[in-house]
Amino acid sequence: MARKILAAGNWKMNKTPSEAAATIEAMKATCASDTVEVLLCVPAIDIPAAIEAAKGSNIQIGAENVYFEESGAYTGEISPDMLLDAGIKYVILGHSERREYFAETNETVNKKMIKCFEKGLVPIMCCGESLEQREQGITIDWIRQQVKVGFLGLTADQAKAAVIAYEPIWAIGTGKTATSDQAEEVCKAIRDLIRELYGDAVAEEIRILYGGSVKGSNAAELFGKEDIDGGLVGGASLKPDFGDIVNFK
Ligand code: 13P
Repeated sequence: MARKILAAGNWKMNKTPSEAAATIEAMKATCASDTVEVLLCVPAIDIPAAIEAAKGSNIQIGAENVYFEESGAYTGEISPDMLLDAGIKYVILGHSERREYFAETNETVNKKMIKCFEKGLVPIMCCGESLEQREQGITIDWIRQQVKVGFLGLTADQAKAAVIAYEPIWAIGTGKTATSDQAEEVCKAIRDLIRELYGDAVAEEIRILYGGSVKGSNAAELFGKEDIDGGLVGGASLKPDFGDIVNFK
């Protein structure tokens, strides 16, 4: 079974609720697709307005983070039930910005992965190396560690439903995209690791995205690689011409 391409936006800390609604209204036409799954992960406060604006279109709305506890004294956090009740299915976990600025670790990401599956959310787990790590030649070791710890304790059924996003930190927001061969090399290594951990069927089904300066002009080449099943897109998902990535052919 062929894996369905996922074009996922990550809006990060951009757009107020009314800006989100206006942008999504404009994206309904540009992001229409019968073949590609389209997702916009938006700031939590934008979720209700974004879902309302996306009604009647193929655009799904996701979240950018979630906490691993059920409820309680965790000021400022958002629980899985809150996202589910708002109509969310997908949630980004462990983005490099959350690791760098908000002290996320492989261990907290793993707790969140487990909680997501317990509750019925689908995680998009991010991994990626710094420029220094790439230059040290430890990229694959680093990514394997991030994915191994992130997936600890997950069953095969859970693992195959998860999405992994490979996002080299040096390519995020820099305009410096990894070459399609560089991206494919790491995405293939991730699939090989999933095969080691869970076997062929899970490895063939799990979707692995590339993220880092994806744009309309490079999406076709990246998404055409055997082990790249779509993109996690920052800057280029903020405007209606995100449709150039959705309709990449
Ligand atoms: P850019 O597409 O802006 O490089 O951001 C990538 C990213 O971090 C998506 O999560």
